[in-house]
Amino acid sequence: MSKQMLNLERIQKDYKTALKKCKRRIVVCAGTACVANGSLEVFEALKKAVRAKGLKVDVKLEKHDDVDCLFSRSGCRGFCQVGPLVTVEPSDTHYVKVKPEDADEIVEKTIMADEYVERLLYVDPVTGEKCSRTADIPFYKRQDRYVLGNCGRLDAEDINQYIADGGYTAARMAYTELEPKQICDMVEKAGLRGRGGGGFSTGRKWNLTLPQKSDKKYIICNGDEGDPGAFMDRSLMEGNPHRVLEGMMIAARAIGADEGYIYVRAEYPLAVERVQKAVDDAEKLGILGEDVFGSGVNLKLFVMEGAGAFVCGEETALIASIEGRRGMPMPKPPFPAECGLWGKPTCINNVETLATVPLILRDGVDKFLAYGTESSPGTKTFALTGHVANTGLIEVPFGVTVREIVYDIGGGVTDDAGNILEDGFKAVQVGGPSGGCLTKDHLDLGMDFDSLRSIGAMVGSGGLVVMNKNTCMVQIAHFFMKFTQNESCGKCVPCREGTKQMLKLLEDIIEGRGTMETIELLERIASAVGKGSLCGLGKTAPNPVLTTLRFFRDEYIAHVEDKRCPAGQCKALAMPEILEDKCIGCGLCSRKCPVNAITGEKKQPHSIDPDVCIKCGVCAEVCKFNAVIGV
Ligand SMILES: Cc1cc2nc3c(=O)[nH]c(=O)nc-3n(C[C@H](O)[C@H](O)[C@H](O)COP(=O)(O)O)c2cc1C
Ligand code: SF4
Ligand code: SF4
Ligand code: FES
Repeated sequence: MSKQMLNLERIQKDYKTALKKCKRRIVVCAGTACVANGSLEVFEALKKAVRAKGLKVDVKLEKHDDVDCLFSRSGCRGFCQVGPLVTVEPSDTHYVKVKPEDADEIVEKTIMADEYVERLLYVDPVTGEKCSRTADIPFYKRQDRYVLGNCGRLDAEDINQYIADGGYTAARMAYTELEPKQICDMVEKAGLRGRGGGGFSTGRKWNLTLPQKSDKKYIICNGDEGDPGAFMDRSLMEGNPHRVLEGMMIAARAIGADEGYIYVRAEYPLAVERVQKAVDDAEKLGILGEDVFGSGVNLKLFVMEGAGAFVCGEETALIASIEGRRGMPMPKPPFPAECGLWGKPTCINNVETLATVPLILRDGVDKFLAYGTESSPGTKTFALTGHVANTGLIEVPFGVTVREIVYDIGGGVTDDAGNILEDGFKAVQVGGPSGGCLTKDHLDLGMDFDSLRSIGAMVGSGGLVVMNKNTCMVQIAHFFMKFTQNESCGKCVPCREGTKQMLKLLEDIIEGRGTMETIELLERIASAVGKGSLCGLGKTAPNPVLTTLRFFRDEYIAHVEDKRCPAGQCKALAMPEILEDKCIGCGLCSRKCPVNAITGEKKQPHSIDPDVCIKCGVCAEVCKFNAVIGV
């Protein structure tokens, strides 16, 4: 048995022995959202409050002394909307919206007397019930947190905690018990498909890279995550960086790479910091570096900050960016598996894909296959946002329906103020700018690679935006088109010029200049951009337009033929109006109107002459009763 193998076992044993002597563990969420809401101040206040009671506190279990409270800073727990979150183990007490001022009460009641601080418990908005444990909260109850499992529980900065939890045993297995081909085949048999958007078989990709003859091969972890609204990869990198590293180690062994890069979005400073610390700690312990697990194989991993452009997530652009060139895509073939970083065979995998791999090795292919559908096994993390009661990071097995996500986990559709709207569902945008819109008709559609592709949408990286009935679908298409047009690298004409033209046509529709020809032209250009673009950005850019045109065509037609926005959102198409039931006839609007478009008797509902109104918006601004609309 090698020195490193002994170390791993010893660390596990030592940590567990120390943990047994520790009465309670307080976990404060230190993911980006909770930190922004002051969770680090909560962490310090809690530590101070515990110490003030004369109790013994530790933040890194290394000694074998009795400890009253072990304090851990975790990564995102997923329910950022109600953060900062604090959990107390072993009771699994779950506190929401915790402030530093709450520290004394938490210590007095929960730590000293095993009681709950009632006002800090989560209240289910649907049933009004208080949930004292994480497991009781509906948002968590309906999920299968398989890959996210320890995200939000583990101290992301403590390698010993990760090892104590079984960490790095899968990597050890890969380096000491399995041949590279066996690993590739195992992952292929598990049916793992890339979580970065394309859904390509990970095992097959590895099996294509392994036989390449070269003195050097690279493994790259794609942590660029440029999709608007997506934060799945960030949460994994911040919350369980060692799992990502372990996945990379296994991938490197599987393809025969001895060097790798973790390309992290520069806008994710906490992820950069934690991944770098994970690499440093793994090197210090002798897990990474030379002679990995005594196998005679070396592995050096580097962390690199992204260049800040969405297109840099595309694999050939990412390679160019690491090489120090401008991040622009290249035609494929040659594929990176044959000719990648510095011309050498390279395998690029997404963060979530890699974080799944250790579980397949550790728990076995069958356990993985038990999740999901036949063609999309496993689970997927999604960033659930928009008009939904519970927003956050979720994980569900593939095949779970849109209805289950929106209603059971999301708690239902809301208005802009967050109130639940009965029958308010309009659509879900899935897959970000490369994806598409799902409608009421798709509420029972299973979320998996093939079902989504069959209706012109895609899993993408996992953004899920719920939209209520007051959402204008033309504006949604415009939002995503604006994003892709801004992010087009400009290398190829269909994408550079096509997205610009599509954006202009959408603007024409929104601003009332559209005709039926505008819609036809939009469709023609969308098809040309999809077919003619070089990389995935341009190829998928038309998806939001095409799916909204397909499922919400009536709305486009209402905009161009009736000059009406059915959702009442397009200002240029709205008719200025004063709502009779809201107007009390105070006359403030008519006094402020610069063109005397408003008339009405005192204390009687007023009205606007649409032919005179110039839509300056002043009347709506001054009206205290929200009686003016459409200006
Ligand atoms: C414009 C564009 C942006 C992309 N951004 C990402 C990204 O941020 N993260 C990612 O993993 N994959 C991204 N991809 C997909 C990658 O090019 C690549 O397919 C993926 O990293 C492969 O890993 P996987 O097989 O594990 O999914 C993007 C693709 C395109 C076309
Ligand atoms: S499709 Fe767009 S983003 Fe991709 S290479 Fe062409 S111009 Fe650049
Ligand atoms: S929008 Fe401006 S111009 Fe039109 S009615 Fe109101 S105040 Fe008058
Ligand atoms: S950052 Fe704390 S729950 Fe997401």
